[in-house]
Amino acid sequence: MDTGLKDKKAIVLAASKGLGKAAAQSLAAEGCHLAICARNEEQLNKTADQFKASGVDVFASAVDVANPGALKQFMEQSIERLGGVDILVTNAGGPPVKSFEETNEEEWRYWYEVTFMTVVRSIKSVLPLLKKQNWGRIINITSISVKAPVERLIYSNALRLAVVGLAKTLSIELGPFNITVNNVAPGYHLTDGLERIVKKRMEAGETREDIFAAWENKIPMRRIGQPGDLAGLIVFLASEQAGYITGATIQVDGGLYPGTL
Ligand SMILES: NC(=O)c1ccc[n+]([C@@H]2O[C@H](COP(=O)([O-])OP(=O)(O)OC[C@H]3O[C@@H](n4cnc5c(N)ncnc54)[C@H](OP(=O)(O)O)[C@@H]3O)[C@@H](O)[C@H]2O)c1
Repeated sequence: MDTGLKDKKAIVLAASKGLGKAAAQSLAAEGCHLAICARNEEQLNKTADQFKASGVDVFASAVDVANPGALKQFMEQSIERLGGVDILVTNAGGPPVKSFEETNEEEWRYWYEVTFMTVVRSIKSVLPLLKKQNWGRIINITSISVKAPVERLIYSNALRLAVVGLAKTLSIELGPFNITVNNVAPGYHLTDGLERIVKKRMEAGETREDIFAAWENKIPMRRIGQPGDLAGLIVFLASEQAGYITGATIQVDGGLYPGTL
């Protein structure tokens, strides 16, 4: 299938590891030129070098997406270095494992910034260009928590729903400009981010084997996802073929979400 992605320009936030990296890698494999960021410069540069091996242009900058000024500058530099933008994949680190009573005002504000405002701000940065060229793809990496709350992930369960509401509203506003806006909702995928959740639960007394066995038993496909499982959907949503899919929130969870719709 020719995805039509060769020489398209994609900005992928938080992409030195995990799901963001897999998304960027799969877009690079389709011939997309990339702008990527993450906080740790050494890891980011290693990842950028891997992508460059696919023969695409890569602009990488060490940026904390929670910092509005730094994010704005990164978006502007990305557009300048790539010579435009066609695709935006929003992503950031995931909130910590907490129950409601463990939360506090300061963390609510921080995770609101990271989970929601980075999406708002990065979309604002690309919108004038996408509208002007009458073509664009915006894909937000959220979580299966937008379909069903995940135990003790209160910040994710609450704040990511704002991203879903934003994307659906934008899909209506931006459809006339041939811009699609969709969310992908990953279930359990093996990344450093997931390992942090495992570690937290092990500190509370569970064994690694029990944690994974419990997840795998609940997942109809009987396995934890690999980052590439999610990336395949992101590439498809970015492709020409997905031009009539917008305002959707699609889970990639091995069948974990129990609802019919
Ligand atoms: N893996 C899963 O099973 C799963 C399931 C559902 C939802 N999710 C969500 O998907 C997102 C990605 O998860 P993941 O598992 O891929 O995480 P990960 O393995 O921890 O990777 C996160 C990536 O984002 C970068 N990053 C984190 N915070 C950042 C910030 N403030 N500014 C810039 N870059 C930042 C990290 O690099 P630096 O640390 O160097 O910045 C790294 O490249 C998270 O929001 C997570 O909650 C994951």
